[in-house]
Amino acid sequence: MSLSAGCLEGVRADWGGCGTDLGAIGVELFITMFQRQDNLLTYFPKLAGKSIDVLRTDANLKEHATKVVSLLNVLVKNADNEAELKSQVEKFAKQHRARKVDPDMVETIFPDIITVVKAHGGTHEDEWKQFLKAFNDLNRSMY
Ligand code: HEM
Repeated sequence: MSLSAGCLEGVRADWGGCGTDLGAIGVELFITMFQRQDNLLTYFPKLAGKSIDVLRTDANLKEHATKVVSLLNVLVKNADNEAELKSQVEKFAKQHRARKVDPDMVETIFPDIITVVKAHGGTHEDEWKQFLKAFNDLNRSMY
């Protein structure tokens, strides 16, 4: 990812504001996403058909959301470590290709990531857009 030091600094500062409870951030992220686009629930057989209120305390959602946000955390921490980043995104591309979640679909969660970051006091929206685009460009090249 060729991001400027300033861009990465902004992303990391905002991420720090989201706290260390990755499960809680993850649930917030997925609830935000499903509220905006409930059709995405069909990708998750263990969640489909459940109401937003039930999902808020659903153990399967929390388990999955924790995995997603843990990876996001690894990407933020390793955005300037080309080798580690490449290996993480390679794994991600393979896992999502297997689930027919293409790079265009991956992008659908980006506005929700920004919503959650801003809800926790984040102010670097443009930097997040650049960071998430760089991640998905890499994903696209490997998908
Ligand atoms: C920043 C964006 C995203 C990240 C970092 C991410 C990360 C992950 C991770 C780490 C896993 C676990 C992989 C495994 O253990 O096999 C996963 C699984 C999965 N992801 Fe994503 N994901 C993202 C976006 C999306 C989007 C937008 C969708 C579709 C709407 C999606 C659909 C899935 C599905 C269906 C699974 C498998 C769930 C399961 O088997 O229980 N992902 N994702």
